[in-house]
Amino acid sequence: MNSYLIVNGPNLNMLGKREPGVYGSASLLDLENEILLFGEETGIEITCFQSNHEGDLIEAIQEAEGQYAGIVLNPGAFTHYSYAIRDAIASVTVPVIEVHISNVHRREEFRHVSVTAPVAAGQIVGLGFAGYRLALLALMEKQGGEEFEGRKNTK
Ligand code: DQA
Repeated sequence: MNSYLIVNGPNLNMLGKREPGVYGSASLLDLENEILLFGEETGIEITCFQSNHEGDLIEAIQEAEGQYAGIVLNPGAFTHYSYAIRDAIASVTVPVIEVHISNVHRREEFRHVSVTAPVAAGQIVGLGFAGYRLALLALMEKQGGEEFEGRKNTK
């Protein structure tokens, strides 16, 4: 399977307008185009999805099972408190890498906690948009049955 899903959570549709000092001046469309181009260059298929709604994100994760070799997920602020998204990640075998554009550890204390990271295959923070490409590279490298720590990649 050669398809990967990019999921961006709440307020990431505001990239470019939202706190440019933290997130930069590029838009969500710029981010998605950058990722799609990377997909073309590396010969993988990419689907991008964004929602401000917790249930939509949960459904996207659930429905990815059997459809994608991996998910790159930026859950936005849900990272810090959504047990429902955590449970969705834990309920699928498709590996999920959590990405944050900003360095959450240099920011407010509530952002230092991720309830989703313990069930993700890995986490990348603070590397801007490059984090999404790096997450895809890690997923591609692991594709074909190798294991992330504690989570078998069956796709
Ligand atoms: C974020 C960090 C979160 O704390 C924040 O709520 C976001 C974006 C990031 O990509 O840096 O919405 O996930």
